[in-house]
Amino acid sequence: MQNITTQQPDMPPSEHIYLRAMQEKDLRAVHKLETLCQLYPWPAWYFRRQLRSASCWVLVQQGMIIGFGIVAMVKDWAHIMNMCVAPGYRRCGLGRRIMIHLLRIAKRQHASHAWLEVRPSNIPAVMLYRKLGFRKKQIRKKYYMKPSGRENGIVMVRRL
Ligand SMILES: CC(C)(COP(=O)(O)OP(=O)(O)OC[C@H]1O[C@@H](n2cnc3c(N)ncnc32)[C@H](O)[C@@H]1OP(=O)(O)O)[C@@H](O)C(=O)NCCC(=O)NCCS
Repeated sequence: MQNITTQQPDMPPSEHIYLRAMQEKDLRAVHKLETLCQLYPWPAWYFRRQLRSASCWVLVQQGMIIGFGIVAMVKDWAHIMNMCVAPGYRRCGLGRRIMIHLLRIAKRQHASHAWLEVRPSNIPAVMLYRKLGFRKKQIRKKYYMKPSGRENGIVMVRRL
């Protein structure tokens, strides 16, 4: 069983970190990480479903899952479904690394564009996406739940 960590890494985070395809055996750790990072996490069954229909990747350091990313193809558009980096590993370029990998996978599958939805309040994610060339395309009114009602979603798009 894979573990996740919320501790600061005890080695430089760029060392011995690699991306590999997510497997059934990773689902528990991936869901645990999602639950740790999101106020309204995807349910475990939804990850299982992605494993069958999308391209799902985990970021691993010393056998521990420290991040994941999921991209699905919808005709020639790539939908960035979800991504996450464990709290103790953030701001080291790993989110960027996951996203670049997902975009590469999408390009290999002949995607012309990629899109995603994000909460306007999720500043780290919005900044990361902007840095990687995503631009705001549309607002989805009351798209996300939040403790006091609902929050809009920003749809961001980039050409591949
Ligand atoms: C969003 C997330 C994946 C970013 O991962 P990360 O590994 O910290 O990101 P990186 O280190 O690759 O950051 C790349 C760039 O994104 C921007 N960024 C990332 N975190 C930021 C923050 N807290 N504040 C401002 N900008 C930030 C910066 O421009 C950064 O480049 P810089 O460090 O050179 O300034 C991570 O915060 C996370 O897992 N959040 C919880 C899950 C989540 O919200 N997922 C997205 C769902 S839509």
